[in-house]
Amino acid sequence: MNAAPEHATAPIHFDEDTIRQSFNQTPFVLEHRLVGHPLFELPRLIELAGTLPEEQVEYNSGDLPVTQDPLKTPRNGLSIRETIQRIEECRSWMVLKNVEADPSYKQLLDLCLDPLIRFCPDMRTREAFVFVSSPDAVTPYHIDHEVNFLLQIVGTKTVRMLPPNDPTVIQEADLERFYAGGYRNLLQLDSQTEAKASSFELTPGLGLHFPVTAPHWVKNGPAVSISFSITFRTNHSDRREILYRINHKLRTLGLHPRPVGRSQSSDNMKYAIFNAARAIVKAVRPNKAPSKQTGSRYSNGT
Ligand SMILES: [Fe+2]
Repeated sequence: MNAAPEHATAPIHFDEDTIRQSFNQTPFVLEHRLVGHPLFELPRLIELAGTLPEEQVEYNSGDLPVTQDPLKTPRNGLSIRETIQRIEECRSWMVLKNVEADPSYKQLLDLCLDPLIRFCPDMRTREAFVFVSSPDAVTPYHIDHEVNFLLQIVGTKTVRMLPPNDPTVIQEADLERFYAGGYRNLLQLDSQTEAKASSFELTPGLGLHFPVTAPHWVKNGPAVSISFSITFRTNHSDRREILYRINHKLRTLGLHPRPVGRSQSSDNMKYAIFNAARAIVKAVRPNKAPSKQTGSRYSNGT
């Protein structure tokens, strides 16, 4: 009997000490075995894009500044198929979202993340994204909702990342706006803040861990880049999101809510009130379908 292909088992090596010390706190580089995997060849990605709903394929010009108003992001004038076919010269950036809708990508996503369950038993809402981008394309400065591992498959990219919980880097109001459904892009990046960023050079076979809402931006190297982003949420990330949404609501009412994480008792009280209100709504409207996790529309711009 032939041995299974190497990429069929354990695609990622998660170092136990690193996970325990740094998971969702600080970025770290890891190794994976997905280089050369057939799911990331361009013809297969064209086929995949053709099966996804239009709103799950986001693409635009890759010639962008680091701080980009999302409402003014230039299109590239091409179709989805043309963009992938001409990715080497069309100076574009593309993400195929929620590719776990395809069973092959779902299987790969699970194969990658299952080994993490023993460190993260409350893992849920697994989602996967494929990024296809032209040489030198820029992903502007932004934040994401999910715990993320970005796996570099083809080409190179430089990721610049800032600490996730530094109030001098990202303001509470920005986090509240984001969690309330706002765009992921951050529009201000001064030189003092930029100097605090760590730089990571990703080459095929390397991956990078992104803590939730760690601000970052990305620039491709001189070749086409293909990356696989595997993400999930946890009890902690969902609770944090709800607390920021509560604070956003309070701020729109003219109040000045205590920042999330500043006071455990304050956070606990807000969360308890939210859960009580949710239980009442559920009792009054028992047949209402649960809403999709917030934020997906603008999620994961890595
Ligand atoms: Fe991102």
